[in-house]
Amino acid sequence: MRRWTNLALLCLIAAAFLTGWLAFSYAAAPARWSLVIHAASGVAILALTPWKSLIIRGGLRHRRQGWWTSLIFTVLVLVSIVAGFLHSTGLLRWWGDITAMEVHVGAAIAAVPFGIWHLVARWVPPRAVDLSRRSLLRGGLLLGAAGLAYAATEGLVRLASLPGASRRFTGSYEVASYQPDAMPVTQWMFDSVPTIAASTWRLRVDGASQEREWTYAQLSAFDDRVTATLDCTGGFYSKQEWTGVWLSRLVPVTDQPVSVHVRSATGYDRRFAAGELSRVLLATRLGGQPLSPGHGFPVRMVAPDRRGFWWIKWITSIEVETTPAWWQLPFPLQ
Ligand code: HEM
Ligand code: HEM
Repeated sequence: MRRWTNLALLCLIAAAFLTGWLAFSYAAAPARWSLVIHAASGVAILALTPWKSLIIRGGLRHRRQGWWTSLIFTVLVLVSIVAGFLHSTGLLRWWGDITAMEVHVGAAIAAVPFGIWHLVARWVPPRAVDLSRRSLLRGGLLLGAAGLAYAATEGLVRLASLPGASRRFTGSYEVASYQPDAMPVTQWMFDSVPTIAASTWRLRVDGASQEREWTYAQLSAFDDRVTATLDCTGGFYSKQEWTGVWLSRLVPVTDQPVSVHVRSATGYDRRFAAGELSRVLLATRLGGQPLSPGHGFPVRMVAPDRRGFWWIKWITSIEVETTPAWWQLPFPLQ
């Protein structure tokens, strides 16, 4: 049972980590499915506590080298799971400026080096018996029970009318829709709000055939509009009216771009496929007013089909490239 418990934990923690990122990588309804597997994996990890505590007790009795790193790993995983439940039920969604979702993902990322260490230092090679019918049956039972427990918590959230009942398929909560001034300001990881003067700022659009610089006044003259939902990976979403110019109007089709590389004044960047240029807006206004610095002044991207980290703020350059859009890290490291 010890070997089986550890092996099951390995599969579950890997599944939880991967499905979490998978859910962040797209903003369409199927994101829910990866989150169902995600939540069930988290519940199954908890369900193994009685068996894993026996292993931990044994381990702590002989205190092998690095035992304390295993304890840090345990604490981080538990913090992540508790924050995940606080988010999903809505019982506690913010600690000051930090969201439960940020704590959830932050603790999971911080756990990675400790988890790898644990795996390497405590590795027990798998044996054929690990794939026996009995082991697989046990695994099936565990997953079935975890799925039921997850469904029960979702049912309870609805029955008790907890805030969690109102969250979107991505797990995010609605905040300040159509109230631009109240919309939270968040950045990806280590990005921060720069100060930019409209008078000196220029947007460089570097096409294959020509290069052109746009001033803030020139871009503000466009009046393309879209109502779109900004779904932040921090765990909230907000529906707003955006005004600006469709990217397809700034990038000449004659350039036959494969992708366009959009960069922020902070160095933050993402690459968009040519096919989506008519669906992404370079916004100068939010709710009819110029953007605030926190929301991306002078111009920001509005990418209705994508999660918030694609909505690049403080844009300074757009470059036509022959590199395909998929040739980039799925998530920025900045
Ligand atoms: C949620 C994931 C896990 C947590 C929180 C966790 C935590 C711990 C802790 C706190 C200990 C006792 C301290 C120590 O001996 O280092 C321990 C022992 C151990 N862990 Fe894990 N562990 C996890 C997953 C795994 C996995 C995936 C494996 C291997 C595939 C594994 C293998 C072991 C072994 C073999 C021991 C026993 C050490 C001994 O008795 O000498 N653990 N674990
Ligand atoms: C140590 C790894 C992780 C574990 C064990 C874990 C576990 C959990 C648990 C138990 C929940 C609450 C589920 C519920 O009742 O709805 C949850 C929610 C969530 N987790 Fe994780 N998680 C981990 C890492 C991550 C990562 C790395 C991401 C994203 C990159 C992520 C994204 C999410 C999201 C978006 C939710 C909200 C789901 C919803 O509200 O429906 N998780 N997680």
